[in-house]
Amino acid sequence: MSGLTRARRTAVAIAATAAAAATALTAASPAGAAPQPIVGGTTTTTGAYPFMMQITDASQDQFCGGTLVSPTKVVTAAHCMVGETPSGVRVVGGRTYLNGTNGTVARVSRIWIHPNYTTATRGEDVAVLTLSTAMPYTTAKYVSSTDTSVYAAGTTARVLGWGTTSSGGSSSNQLRTATVPIVSDTSCGGSYGSDYVKSEMVCAGYSSGGVDTCQGDSGGPLLVGGVLAGITSWGEGCAQAGYPGVYTRLATFSSLVTAQVNS
Ligand code: ARG
Repeated sequence: MSGLTRARRTAVAIAATAAAAATALTAASPAGAAPQPIVGGTTTTTGAYPFMMQITDASQDQFCGGTLVSPTKVVTAAHCMVGETPSGVRVVGGRTYLNGTNGTVARVSRIWIHPNYTTATRGEDVAVLTLSTAMPYTTAKYVSSTDTSVYAAGTTARVLGWGTTSSGGSSSNQLRTATVPIVSDTSCGGSYGSDYVKSEMVCAGYSSGGVDTCQGDSGGPLLVGGVLAGITSWGEGCAQAGYPGVYTRLATFSSLVTAQVNS
């Protein structure tokens, strides 16, 4: 992993931790506690999820996930793209393992970041990459702006990524997936206070924790019924009881994303 990637992950982790400053000091796992698996779920493949993209640097070191929504367009998180230039980013499809060399590598010709994006805890954590060459993989559908039923509390959602398998741990060489229930706005607001902006975010996770996305999963998909409904954005630690993962509520940004996809 490059120093840049590590620095970026650390910065993001700090930003997310600051979200719950009051609890941050006690957020560390007790010594000897078992590492909490991120995506606590299971290993999977890009064959099973062909729209699942690695977002990498020019050396093909993965630092975020992304979702292929048209042959040349990838939806990811704005916080993944801050400070990036098109020439420094690659999108890799069809590569299940981080240390693989297979699949398709595309250069990026344009990075669109939501114009109002500042930090993940303020929302607008969405970006669209335009690829210089088309990906030969099945794309994912994404929610429309009127698709709000996908966010009903208790709905089963699926997350995917190569992120760390514990907070501050190391990445998973193989793509992983897990299912997590959507959490109500009231409950998530109770966890995160004013950092949770219900019009722009949605939370998912078990109240007891144990299954979650984690560092390096950002930008990747939250799928409901196989449709892209959210983008991995932030959380207090990973998989902690009472602190679900927070995802960009894609329906809110659907028209903006469509404008980018068609541009
Ligand atoms: N911000 C992280 C990233 O850049 C994702 C964190 C998700 N955290 C969580 N507890 N679900 O990869």
